[in-house]
Amino acid sequence: MSYIGLDLGTSGLRALLVDRSGAPIGAAQANYDVAHPHSGWSEQDPADWVGAVKIVFDDLRARFREFSDLRGIGVAGHMHGATLLDEQGDVLRPCILWNDTRAAKQAKALDDLAQFRQVTGNVVFPGFTAPKLNWVRDHEPQIFAKLARVLLPAAYLNYVLTGQFVGDLSDASGTSWLDVGARDWSDDLLSATGLRRDNMPHLFEGCQPAAHLRDDLKKRFGLTQDVIVAGGAGDNAAAACGIGALREGQGFVSLGTSGVILAARDGYVPDAERAVHTFCHALPQRWYQMGVMLAATDSLNWLSKITSQPPQVLTEKLGNALRPPSNIKFLPYLSGERTPHNDADIRGAFLGLSAEHDVADLTAAVLQGVCFGLRDSVEALQSTGVTLPRLMAIGGGTGSQYWLKLLATVFNMPIDIPDGGEFGAALGAARLAIVACGDGAIDEVMTAPKIRNTILPDPDLVMEYDAAYYAFRAAYSGVKSVQ
Ligand code: XUL
Repeated sequence: MSYIGLDLGTSGLRALLVDRSGAPIGAAQANYDVAHPHSGWSEQDPADWVGAVKIVFDDLRARFREFSDLRGIGVAGHMHGATLLDEQGDVLRPCILWNDTRAAKQAKALDDLAQFRQVTGNVVFPGFTAPKLNWVRDHEPQIFAKLARVLLPAAYLNYVLTGQFVGDLSDASGTSWLDVGARDWSDDLLSATGLRRDNMPHLFEGCQPAAHLRDDLKKRFGLTQDVIVAGGAGDNAAAACGIGALREGQGFVSLGTSGVILAARDGYVPDAERAVHTFCHALPQRWYQMGVMLAATDSLNWLSKITSQPPQVLTEKLGNALRPPSNIKFLPYLSGERTPHNDADIRGAFLGLSAEHDVADLTAAVLQGVCFGLRDSVEALQSTGVTLPRLMAIGGGTGSQYWLKLLATVFNMPIDIPDGGEFGAALGAARLAIVACGDGAIDEVMTAPKIRNTILPDPDLVMEYDAAYYAFRAAYSGVKSVQ
């Protein structure tokens, strides 16, 4: 028996084929682009996702005979995206993504209505789904008039795979329409934005069976048996399932396009004050909290673009030994920021440049600025009562030893590095599929990976980085007042 976890990421779709124990058999990847038609806008054509699904399924089928025993699929996706469908199920416009901040005005208006924070436990951020719908209503009324369904990216893939409008609670938590404590859509919040429950997908726990793979797709991929599609998950909840972060004290730092600090919670304890996110986990009666920065590896990618040097070349030039704090301050707000500022308009900055600085100095400053931004999230989470004795590091940025040592030192916390292989959202999604098929219990399947090594803070630099972090915070206030 085999299972597929799909991770619909911002830059590409990853598919992981696993066996019943969750051990990887093989993976496939297909990439696509993000369009930025205006500053602060970020869109994708859902047709590119569908094309990518066909590529990765064909690839897995061609390379791994186990594909023919496929029994379950789980889909994880980048969160908050508004995929709008008409009555026929056709896509009405490009999907407006999680890091799109055009709906700042609409978000503020909803956030000012007390019921949104009360019911969802979260700030209404511009990147969340409900304000995007109000933006479409205000700016594209002809599209809003044809709207029949609003699906998150993962729920849209569920629809493509099954023909059913089904989604999961962890992803729905990022819409501003979910009663996150009661784990159900809020009819009041939906109607406050001119929508009804029947515009939304039917909700499941991430590890529940939600629907079945369509017959025509089974035929296309040479499958004969029934294939169950799980509820699925938002990518961060799925990644938590992938590393076994299910309970208090367990969490991760993700250095991906976005930077995330995630802490699993045993109960629902919302606290929107410092722009902390409180969401349903992909598993029944579990929640998690996270701080999200909008440009983590994206900040390094930006430096890479303007210096025409690949990110890896930039970070390798720093070597592995941690430098003392850079006297250049980099504010990583290239796309605005969520935690802790909830500010769509703030933009990035380099402060303290002098003539002798070179590209390596800028790289060190960028990595440092991202770590400081993430420390803001750690502190925001701690202020809500989260205890984080240590974190596991995941995501593309963890390829840099320098960045990891810097993180451990800036957080003054041990950072665990998983041992090679798979442990991200694709594995989490595949694990959800195994549980949804009834082929494993949550605690047996959602285990922690082996730890390759633990990066400890550099004791000689912790204090200096602490002081530099407070200087970074002061610089934010200064830049904020002039922007
Ligand atoms: C979480 C968030 C991002 C996206 C993209 O709130 O917006 O982490 O899910 O991965």
